[in-house]
Amino acid sequence: MAKDIIMSGMRPTGKLHLGNYFGALENWVKLQNQYDSYHAIVDWHALTTAYEDTSELKDNIMEVALDWLSAGLDPEECTIYVQSDVKEIAELFLLLSMVTPVSWLERCPTYKEQLKQLEGKNIANFGFLGYPCLQAADILVFKAKYVPVGEDQIPHLELSREIARRFNNIYGETFPEPEALLAEAKVLPGLDGRKMSKSYDNAIYLSDSKRDIEEKVRNMITDPQRIRKNDPGNPEICSAYSLHKVFTQLADLKETEEKCRGGAIGCVACKKKLAENLSAFLEPIRDKRERLASNPDTVKDILNDGAKKARRAASRTLEEARDKMNL
Ligand code: TRP
Repeated sequence: MAKDIIMSGMRPTGKLHLGNYFGALENWVKLQNQYDSYHAIVDWHALTTAYEDTSELKDNIMEVALDWLSAGLDPEECTIYVQSDVKEIAELFLLLSMVTPVSWLERCPTYKEQLKQLEGKNIANFGFLGYPCLQAADILVFKAKYVPVGEDQIPHLELSREIARRFNNIYGETFPEPEALLAEAKVLPGLDGRKMSKSYDNAIYLSDSKRDIEEKVRNMITDPQRIRKNDPGNPEICSAYSLHKVFTQLADLKETEEKCRGGAIGCVACKKKLAENLSAFLEPIRDKRERLASNPDTVKDILNDGAKKARRAASRTLEEARDKMNL
């Protein structure tokens, strides 16, 4: 029996951090054997807010591809491609734009939010308004049933379904209405205890070296009340402890917690342990990344093969859509 299709994407804005890994990538890796999976590096979407300076776009695409492959996305199991290599997506975007009311796009909460957030940056453009319609094309072009994303993408998924429904109503049943496949919400704390995010400058990257990690962890703020190493500490307010909870085995974690409360382990030793655990977790990813990075042609071949496969599937959908519209 044919597997259900899933589709998801990420904008190429640079190297991925552990928050991106636990927020999406880990889930994609788990799902790739179970579903017919399409994963796009969505460079057109990146252009909607960063169209002026495109000097780093190519490098960023490569970084994302390296991160995906080293974190375990397997090109034998899923289709990995760059959005702009699959022109059928642009064509479907155009067709879908004909049935997408501007008011739906203007009402989209992410649109309103971003306009406010990125004030000063001129993004009051047609392309940016159309962001969710382009995302609908990404998904519908493969007739994907599920879209593995985080909660923040719910409004976009809602719009994708509405656009599919409108197309189907006007031209006849063509697209299934895609559903979000939400993973358990895992928000990874960053170096300062806030959500890990590139813009907070509190991230640990999949590509960070052992040294980078040691240094980042060494500079983390712990319980500010704790001056001397035998002062009793409070793990609840310690950023290092929030990360320990993710990367340290339970028995060891309990022991560390008790020692901290009893003033029996100092922050320096505790952080050293955290850095070791983090490094151990990232080591296989980092090794694979280094191997791939020294062979960029292999990565480019993977992306080209992925685009070919994606285009084959996408062109079947486009034939059907054109036909339904009498084009
Ligand atoms: N909007 C998504 C994000 O910001 C990226 C994206 C573009 C996407 N096209 C997609 C996600 C299709 C899922 C499916 O994360």
